[in-house]
Amino acid sequence: MKRFISGFTSENENRPKKRDLFSSKVGVIAAAAGSAVGLGNIWKFPYEAGNNGGAAFILLYLFFIITIGLPVMLSEFVIGRKSRSNVHGAFHKLAPGSKWPFVGYIGILAAFMILAFYSVVGGWCIQYVIYAVSGTFTNGTSDEYCFIFNNFITSPIRPIIWQLLFMAISAGIVLAGIKKGIEKYAKILMPLLLVIIIILDIRAVTLKGAMEGLSFLFKPDFSELTGVSVLEALGQAFFSLSLGMGAIITYGSYVNKHDNLSNTAGEVTIADTLIAILAGIAIFPAVFALGIDHDQGPGLVFVTLPEVFQAMPGGFIFSVLFFTLLVVAAITSSISLLEVVVAYFVEEQKMIRRDATIIATALISIFGMICSLSLSSSVKIEFFGKNFFDWLEFVSSNILLPLGGLFIALFVGWKLGKQKVLKELSNEYTINAPFYHVFIFLVKYIAPIAIAIVFLNGIGVLKYILMIFK
Ligand code: PHE
Repeated sequence: MKRFISGFTSENENRPKKRDLFSSKVGVIAAAAGSAVGLGNIWKFPYEAGNNGGAAFILLYLFFIITIGLPVMLSEFVIGRKSRSNVHGAFHKLAPGSKWPFVGYIGILAAFMILAFYSVVGGWCIQYVIYAVSGTFTNGTSDEYCFIFNNFITSPIRPIIWQLLFMAISAGIVLAGIKKGIEKYAKILMPLLLVIIIILDIRAVTLKGAMEGLSFLFKPDFSELTGVSVLEALGQAFFSLSLGMGAIITYGSYVNKHDNLSNTAGEVTIADTLIAILAGIAIFPAVFALGIDHDQGPGLVFVTLPEVFQAMPGGFIFSVLFFTLLVVAAITSSISLLEVVVAYFVEEQKMIRRDATIIATALISIFGMICSLSLSSSVKIEFFGKNFFDWLEFVSSNILLPLGGLFIALFVGWKLGKQKVLKELSNEYTINAPFYHVFIFLVKYIAPIAIAIVFLNGIGVLKYILMIFK
């Protein structure tokens, strides 16, 4: 059964606007967790941890998840459900006549940039399904898997074809509408992915020499951390939880008024973090047992896991299932990114949903193609030692998302007003909101100050500010 709520458009008070709603609490969690769990957990988290020294980075990441991620996620749900709007319109509605809608533009820009490289990696995953099905992962060495990966991502055409297919699938689902498209699949497929990762974990930790990988994951050495790695841990927390750019605001706008927002935010955060850690446990023991470089960057998962599959009974089936589910997880995330842009086009630019989806998909795909080409050996587009792909990833995750998150926290902490927040968290005073005071304290002070410090430190400005006060 389809349920609608009515709101009114700002231009035409008499024209009721229909907005689709999630049908159940499970549906909301599935969709929001579907957005959160994706390549960020399984592809990005392991290689970021590998590049930044392992356990110390992970501890920081967990610290940021609890003190900043969770409160910002709840803030986004509050803003979304209260405004029933897209990321730009939400600020417009809740703070009319102010400059706040600017935050919406940061979000839309971030969605564009993220989806451009995300779709490239999504395309790689589709290629890996094909490799798995055709039995590529049966008896290779890590050098061979490294060669296969590099050879594939640096070829000009093949990755682009898969990237475009990935975008087309995402667009198709977004076109079908939020509820029908997203809820149904996420509910069944995400738990299945979890089961497969746990099976991979069991194989990885029982490999000979796995202990070294586990101690890399769990024994912190803080001397390895730099200002940039602290910023990357924060950026990763935002990226993994889909925060700072309005994906959760947009999904929050479809949440039923009886759902308990605090519980939903908590459950999504736990599921996302659990999957990232379990992905780390599937990868690092294998990395160390097999003598693979832990700081090789974006190829880490694609080089390591094939060897894990080949070392386990039923490896063929597991590899096919794993990469297929990885594609699904990536798609449930990419639709939330695309939905941010589409909802904005539909509600603010008054486009019809079909046109909005096609235009957004086409524009993002063009950037995605440039991004993919920037890795190819024949084109090579680099500035300051980073290619276009790395730049998109760095700027969106480590600059735009924390900035967006900073403003979102400030908005809920300082602008929205305590009463409105309490009303939203308690569903108009019908349920308890026991953590309300802690939440307000975190969004008002802790999250903004922490983000500002990490940010200024990461871009190298903090030391100059501190020098002024010396
Ligand atoms: N959280 C997603 C992932 O981990 C990526 C994402 C980022 C989705 C920002 C939406 C918004 O893969």
